[in-house]
Amino acid sequence: MTDSVNAQQTGLDVAIILAAGEGTRMKSDKPKVLHELAGKTFLSRVMDSVRGLGAATRAVVVHYQADRVAEAARSYDPDVVIVNQDDKPGTGRAVQCAVQQLTETGRFCGSVLIAASDMPLLDTATLAELVAVHRSQGNAATVLTTRLDDPFGYGRVIRDEDGNVLRIVEQKDANAAEQAVTEVNTSVYVFEASVLAAAIADLDSNNAQGEFYLTDALEKARRIGKVGAWTATDSLAVEGVNDRVQLARLAKAHNVRVCEKWMREGVTILDPDTTWIEDDVRIAHDAEILPGCFLQGSTVVASGAVVGPYTTLIDAVIDEGAHVERSRIQQTHIGPRAAIGPWTYLRPGNDLAADTKAGAFVEMKKAHIDEGTKVPHLSYIGDAHLGAHTNIGGGTITANYDGVHKNRTEIGSGCHVGAGNMFVAPVTVGDGVTTGAGSVVRHAVPDGAMVYSENTQHVDEDWKPAWERGDAERN
Ligand code: UD1
Ligand code: MG
Repeated sequence: MTDSVNAQQTGLDVAIILAAGEGTRMKSDKPKVLHELAGKTFLSRVMDSVRGLGAATRAVVVHYQADRVAEAARSYDPDVVIVNQDDKPGTGRAVQCAVQQLTETGRFCGSVLIAASDMPLLDTATLAELVAVHRSQGNAATVLTTRLDDPFGYGRVIRDEDGNVLRIVEQKDANAAEQAVTEVNTSVYVFEASVLAAAIADLDSNNAQGEFYLTDALEKARRIGKVGAWTATDSLAVEGVNDRVQLARLAKAHNVRVCEKWMREGVTILDPDTTWIEDDVRIAHDAEILPGCFLQGSTVVASGAVVGPYTTLIDAVIDEGAHVERSRIQQTHIGPRAAIGPWTYLRPGNDLAADTKAGAFVEMKKAHIDEGTKVPHLSYIGDAHLGAHTNIGGGTITANYDGVHKNRTEIGSGCHVGAGNMFVAPVTVGDGVTTGAGSVVRHAVPDGAMVYSENTQHVDEDWKPAWERGDAERN
């Protein structure tokens, strides 16, 4: 999938993305186009692909939850033109509103791409090819089509015996013969601006859905000039998502491709069926991904690292030879040969150097752990810096929160921290310090010292449980 195509090559002037629909079939409080596939909204994906064409004017049509969709669109592309569709429904009405606004502002000219925003895997290469076909055939309008084994729900492309496109018939308006057609409209078109303006001028809503259909514009465009179609070979790239069943199916098919891409790059993925990898993740050859992993955001995994089983990495950096098992790790750097897990929870902001360990039931947040230091069991290390080659006893906690502020703990290098310690932050412990089991460290400890807490052991040899003393019934 290429995402950078030279604007001069495509010669496209205007791109209109339709994002005004509610997406009723998603049954969601959220507009359909803000649902995500592999960690990115449908809208951002389509806008990214369209932007690759280099059209000078890029417009997004909004209506349902207009402010929310417009804000998202502007966050992906600050120069986008927002068009507000009025209360008249339909893809045709959306384009009428866009054409009117762009004409009024002097931005409607040349070749115009129209794309629905509910096709999350649309890519720049497919769009560029459509524009190239439109140009080379000298068309007034060109529609992007595809062939589907199950075309249910889509508009069908009706051609004459010579293969010329006559019109598009929506599922709900199609007769049995039309429903048998497997070539479908993808909702991506290129029109010459003047043809589009004329073709949408008098659309009506005399159809099963009572909507102004953009598809009707093609039939009208035939009266003005040549209407062509180009059939995308990769149907995945042009599949629309109208409900969550389609979304899951498309996301799965996309993930299969992503996993196969990484396996071909030399990454071992033991079970692609249970491994999910988002698009911006980078994995070096000879990394191993074990079953049940979810690699998200800008995660980077180096060569020789082993991830999993059952690990979630979110914007994490895993260096070479590190092993991360059954853990959740977010915005954290794991140094070379570090051992993480199982059941380790690393919240944002940690930096673990080479040969470190964060073992079972260890939680960290904003912790900087220097080389060779180990936190093997049942600990919480937050807002802390641990020096090099220090060992932290099981059950140790940095008490970093006094109810108002988060306070820092500094522990030096070469320390031996006993089991069950409590560091009450803010507190600083020097290098080479040994602490006794169960110490509560509230004050600074100098280099090389030994620290322990008074923790008197009381033994009552005559003690008996209440029920033995006859004070209470044993239950
Ligand atoms: C549409 C096409 C159908 C095609 C299918 C491909 C029409 C009439 N039908 O049907 O031929 O096979 O896409 O996926 O065009 N939108 C607006 N304003 C509206 C209604 C919709 O901007 O008033 C936007 C939606 O946000 C969406 C796109 O247009 O991004 C398509 O709308 P949708 O309701 O999904 O149309 P389909 O029924 O899928
Ligand atoms: Mg749709």
